Amino acid sequence: MKQEESSTKDTKLLFRQAYDYIVTRIELGEWQTHDKLPSIRMLAQELRIHRLTVFRAYQMLKQNGKAYVKEKSGYYVSPGNTQQVISEHPESHPVTSSGFLKNSLAEIQQVPVVYQFSQALIDPNLLPNLYLSEYVKQVFDDYPKLMGTYSNVQGDEELCEFLCRYMKESHNLQLSVSDLLVTTGGQQAIDLISRVYIRPMDPILVERPTYSSALDIFRQQGARIIPVDITLGGYDLEKVEMLMIQHRPRIFYMNPTFHNPTGYTVPKAQRKQLVELAERYHCLLVEDDAIHEMYFDEPPPEPMLTYDTNGWVVYIRSFSKYVAPGLRICVVIGRPSVITPLLTAKSLADNGTPLVNQKLFLHYFESERMRQHLKKLRIALQVRKEIVEEELKTTGWTWDSPKGGFNLWLKLPETLPVEGFLNECMEQSISFIPGIICDPLREMRSWIRLSYSFINEEHLRSGVRRLANIAERYSVR
Ligand SMILES: Cc1ncc(COP(=O)(O)O)c(C=O)c1O
Repeated sequence: MKQEESSTKDTKLLFRQAYDYIVTRIELGEWQTHDKLPSIRMLAQELRIHRLTVFRAYQMLKQNGKAYVKEKSGYYVSPGNTQQVISEHPESHPVTSSGFLKNSLAEIQQVPVVYQFSQALIDPNLLPNLYLSEYVKQVFDDYPKLMGTYSNVQGDEELCEFLCRYMKESHNLQLSVSDLLVTTGGQQAIDLISRVYIRPMDPILVERPTYSSALDIFRQQGARIIPVDITLGGYDLEKVEMLMIQHRPRIFYMNPTFHNPTGYTVPKAQRKQLVELAERYHCLLVEDDAIHEMYFDEPPPEPMLTYDTNGWVVYIRSFSKYVAPGLRICVVIGRPSVITPLLTAKSLADNGTPLVNQKLFLHYFESERMRQHLKKLRIALQVRKEIVEEELKTTGWTWDSPKGGFNLWLKLPETLPVEGFLNECMEQSISFIPGIICDPLREMRSWIRLSYSFINEEHLRSGVRRLANIAERYSVR
């Protein structure tokens, strides 16, 4: 019975994803108004799904006015759904976007507010700014031709060699430079991996909830997203195995250490087992590790990468979140067979991360001052987290206190409709992330992510009090 329920749920999900896939292609302008859509048989073949699933998706397109039927001919795109690629007066719109891109997170974060709880980023005042500026001068003295030189595509050799040593010292990993690719932030790494390893309608496993910009990237790529719940205890490994058998996913995108948005950390015991599953079912684990060193009391378990012996993990280690956001340095680590195609994608994207950023990062990150700074940062973050938790005590909201990271993942009462609450907060200059944008199923309506890393201590207190007051007034009784 349980199996029946879950297979009905899967079919529903599949048809919904086929629908989303067709709508995205229409919105991208690939299929224009009055174009004939592919036959049900052809699309089912292309997407490797059942014809009935495509049929249901087409029926839904028709119901929603996105497609119409011509008797004995097939389905056609209805007017008003594609992006306007050709303008009647081209000179009045010289450049017209041909793509439909969405970044739900950025849309919220771009709104300027006083109480910025939506940015999972370190308060710039916590970074050793004065010391950094001395550094800039030093680095330019050491490399006088720095501004006049491109980096190679893979990343500055000196930095790559340092990163190999760093991974050896911190995780006992034996790497060579050909296992590495330096990217401009973790975001670029996710994007490149997605371009290289996901084709339209490829099944991929993604945590539920997850980092919302990654979701937007995968959707843009046309992936068939299969959610895997993440909880305080990690994943249900039996379920993960079942999904791997059933769907043969290309990748499993995971953020197992101080997970965004929940703060959960997948326990050590599961990490080795997950790598074994990945090997058994040939599913590439994409391990996104954006804030590994931002722990409070004790360091997190070793990355999945350390258990990988056969090249089934590609590891994304960003340093931009807590070292120097302005430099946006991240390293992707994997076997050359995984990294080489990414190098081509990187060369197409930007031909290499700016050399100035890489050199500045290298000399700053390897300094003793940096080590000291990280220690202080951890304490400052923990203090901020505790302030927010203290202020939230009276709200009746619930959460699991994270052991590191930047966020609280809060469950609000059903009586508080989050969408309206967020609008009200925005009007009063407070922002946070609604859980729904982190959910592949778009259902987590009662959850929000509150970041405590960006606002100073005084503002944190007053901001949370304001937030709680608005919630009190806004609750439906
Ligand atoms: C899990 C996760 N991955 C990747 C990123 C992007 O990192 P970067 O700033 O290095 O591009 C973030 C940023 O919030 C994140 O939380």
